[in-house]
Amino acid sequence: MNFIRFSDLCASGRVAGQRVFIRADMNVPMDDSGHITEDTRIRASIPCIQLALDAGAAVMVASHLGRPVEGEFKPADSLAPVARRLGELMGREIPLVANWVDGVDVKPGQMVLLENCRVNKGEKKNDAALARKLAALCDVFVHDAFGAAHRAEASTYGIAQYAPIACAGPLLAAEMDAIAKALSNPRRPLVAIVAGSKVSTKLTILKSLAANVDQLIVGGGIANTFMLAAGLKIGKSLAEPGLLHEALAVMEAMKARGVEVPIPTDVVCAKSFSADAPGTVKAATDVADDDLILDIGPQTAHKLADQLKQAGTIVWNGPVGVFEFAAFENGTREIAKAIAESSAFSLAGGGDTLAAIAKYGIKKQVDYISTGGGAFLEVLEGKTLPAFEILQKRAAG
Ligand code: 3PG
Repeated sequence: MNFIRFSDLCASGRVAGQRVFIRADMNVPMDDSGHITEDTRIRASIPCIQLALDAGAAVMVASHLGRPVEGEFKPADSLAPVARRLGELMGREIPLVANWVDGVDVKPGQMVLLENCRVNKGEKKNDAALARKLAALCDVFVHDAFGAAHRAEASTYGIAQYAPIACAGPLLAAEMDAIAKALSNPRRPLVAIVAGSKVSTKLTILKSLAANVDQLIVGGGIANTFMLAAGLKIGKSLAEPGLLHEALAVMEAMKARGVEVPIPTDVVCAKSFSADAPGTVKAATDVADDDLILDIGPQTAHKLADQLKQAGTIVWNGPVGVFEFAAFENGTREIAKAIAESSAFSLAGGGDTLAAIAKYGIKKQVDYISTGGGAFLEVLEGKTLPAFEILQKRAAG
């Protein structure tokens, strides 16, 4: 993929004294009292900011937070908690600037954080007038918001059209490099784990992966639908019977390539969905009408773990069971352990997946953890994200 890298511009000395506008994604989760509960995205944004400061730029950093109503700024929309955390992490005071669209006062060597860019009218629809104003603020636009790379908004796309120079920041570039390594020219066998509650939301991903991967592992509600398609009973378990034909098509696509989508041979069931419901391990053929399947069984987990240990590349999106409840976490824990122990290049992404990685302490053993939620899924679907489309266009001149 051909795009201008901000690190190259910095190394060439072209950034000194320039006004640099960095679009980051510091859309982090917060609790009801506005405390940040997870700061990975803020930490991941720092290398780009530091690069710009070290290169002698006047640095403006923008991000969205949540999905506010445009033109109606509310205190809960404010990036103030983000400014504080960023300041702590960078060891400097971070001024937070409101109403910044018509001009920002920042000098070389300084940096400011711009208040929630989604409050600007026209942001979501990528209004050309707004995008031109944003572009006029800078000499160099740096897209470093992988988490928002699937959005074509004024601060992610329009600004890249009109800024004098538009380039990729180190986080965006690293995400693309990792994804290209996993999907374009992977070390084989390439194994993908696609799990989670619904088939419909991940169906396009399954179809696209079925054409590319050597083995496809499904889990969670997705696996239940595949079990139904394989003629097994699943009791009251979450599934999408309306999509059986789609599940069958994915199974056929894999079969045509000489492999089966592994269907669980044992499962962990409960009579209700709750943290204290006891789990019962059953053969996949013994699921009762009033059972809920909440995890894969130990035999299935063991088989999948073996498969993962032999992989050349692993792409992981979604836990295979309700790992938040102790009785139903074994499958996800075993998968996480197998990925950690595998010598494969491993790439993981998605909110629940990151929570599982944190819970089982395997962060260091996963080769690349994506900061993207929806963006990561769209890449797996085989889509070209707007961020890369426009950055490539700009690189081409
Ligand atoms: C995310 O959290 O996935 C990104 O920050 C994008 O947010 P959005 O789905 O509100 O565009």
